[in-house]
Amino acid sequence: MHRTHTCGELRLDNAGQEVTLSGWVQRIRDKGGLIWIDLRDRYGITQLLIEEGRTNDDVVKASRGLGREFVIKVKGNVIERSSKNPNIPTGEIEIDLSSIEILNSSKTPPFTLEDNTDGGDELRMKYRYLDLRRQPLRRNLELRNRLSIETRKYLDNEKFFEIETPYLIKSTPEGARDFVVPSRMNEGQFYALPQSPQTFKQLLMVAGYDRYYQLVKCFRDEDLRADRQPEFTQIDCEMAFVEQDDILNTFEGLVRYLFKTVKNIDIPKLPIMEYADAMKYYGSDKPDIRFGMKFVELNDVAQNKGFAIFDSAELVVGINAEGCANYSRKQLDKLTDFVRKPQIGAKGMVYVKYLSDEQSANDDGSFKSSVDKFYSQEDLKTWAEKFDSKPGDLMLILSGDKNTVRKQLNELRLEMGNQLDLRKTDVFAPLWVVDFPLLEWDEDTKRFHAMHHPFTSPKADDINLLDEKPAEVRANAYDLVINGVEIGGGSIRIHDRDLQKLMFKHLGFTDEEAQEQFGFLMNAFEYGAPPHGGIALGFDRLVALFGGSDSIRDYIAFPKNNSGRDVMIDSPSEISDAQLDELMLNIKK
Ligand code: AMO
Repeated sequence: MHRTHTCGELRLDNAGQEVTLSGWVQRIRDKGGLIWIDLRDRYGITQLLIEEGRTNDDVVKASRGLGREFVIKVKGNVIERSSKNPNIPTGEIEIDLSSIEILNSSKTPPFTLEDNTDGGDELRMKYRYLDLRRQPLRRNLELRNRLSIETRKYLDNEKFFEIETPYLIKSTPEGARDFVVPSRMNEGQFYALPQSPQTFKQLLMVAGYDRYYQLVKCFRDEDLRADRQPEFTQIDCEMAFVEQDDILNTFEGLVRYLFKTVKNIDIPKLPIMEYADAMKYYGSDKPDIRFGMKFVELNDVAQNKGFAIFDSAELVVGINAEGCANYSRKQLDKLTDFVRKPQIGAKGMVYVKYLSDEQSANDDGSFKSSVDKFYSQEDLKTWAEKFDSKPGDLMLILSGDKNTVRKQLNELRLEMGNQLDLRKTDVFAPLWVVDFPLLEWDEDTKRFHAMHHPFTSPKADDINLLDEKPAEVRANAYDLVINGVEIGGGSIRIHDRDLQKLMFKHLGFTDEEAQEQFGFLMNAFEYGAPPHGGIALGFDRLVALFGGSDSIRDYIAFPKNNSGRDVMIDSPSEISDAQLDELMLNIKK
């Protein structure tokens, strides 16, 4: 028998028992006659004790031959520790060893496999199987496992049916590039890996499986970021005979169920925000509403007072940072530098300090600003009223082209949120953002693209705008946003062939192109497609959010690095000439 217990299991209640444990040697401390070994497995760490003179000589000798990450099997008695460790569940006991068997030796690992490691990112990725031995990563995967089980439980209970859809398919339009796979049997032809199972889940609705779900891998060839991987997992769902509210209610239910069961947090009813308001008040379609600091527009009070920069701007807009009137010159300069960074691109920032009585004792008035030359104390007071600003607050204002300045102020708002510690990782503020525009103008191709995807239905009231004002048409589309992260998105679909045709026309597809790429779906719509809609949640993002991290990489067992490489298995890599020949891809010949 390799073990009677795991390394995370024994407590003071077990004192006096003889046990057998197996695991990896995490650490050895040899203090003269006393040797302690931390033995680790998936479940935890148990301390082993060897005492020269008292413990059997063979065991003492064997322990001196051990190294880090050796795999051993030990036997001994559970005893109470004299100095306890309150930080680990097994911290009250240790094992007084009577035998050690080495099951396997190990090379010295290239970095320490403890909670805090000295290994750099690339090195840990190369030896991912070692990094995964560390408890923090183990805990992350445990969280992932828990969330997937609870998701399945909830959806099963709601009568959803898990159905697998194929990976070798044809391009699905989700806005990224496809990964393609050459077909040996069909010379010169390629499969595409799914960016999502979108078309298949819609076909399943036509087939009558009115509640489908799948925890499914999706593949997108796009630039990587902390919250993006080329292959990632979605909780993908579709429902028939539903309207937007039914979908929002069902998935709001899932979100609340997960928070309750996994984190014991009660989430109140999710607020619903229109896209237009999200942009106006937060400058983002994924507002972080853990904190306020909503945008305040100042055109009517800040323009036509002789300050040319504001006068020429389409929008003058700012935020109120509570209690920041004491910011020093240096802090304000830093904020200005922040908004001027090329990634943000503002030309400058105007500030107005609303001084507290104490702060204004030596000043002429209550307001001190970077634009005192242009605005009187009276003017600044009207600004403060708009901001609902109090003495001691700081108003930060940007101006420029509407869409650009909103994006810039969004960055500044988030930065202030960070500086004021208003973005705590253990606080969760989910919401729905609804009524997204149906179409988005793309400067590069000079045409409209579907903002969500081409199967999203326009709002009935807006269909008549399609020809005249396409940019104003709103979609029956919604996003689930939590703490400023887009966790999921979906829409009510077009289920009518003629409307789908019209949509393709507006997206610049000729009839032939539409037929070639999506004929299978349009044909299916001729056989009784029910009204339907759905959503997909980014599972990796959801897990990372639950874990309190922005980065999804540590919640995926074998992720890719920032260049899309798996440095452990060294992929992507070249393939042999023979393989290239077989696939008819050998361009060298
Ligand atoms: P969408 O493209 O919005 O919708 O994707 C849904 C969710 O998937 C997550 N996500 C990603 N996570 C990690 N890495 C990536 N590269 C990545 N790309 C997307 C996000 C996102 O909100 N078929 C539609 C859904 C539908 O209409 O039902 C779709 O895929 O959290």
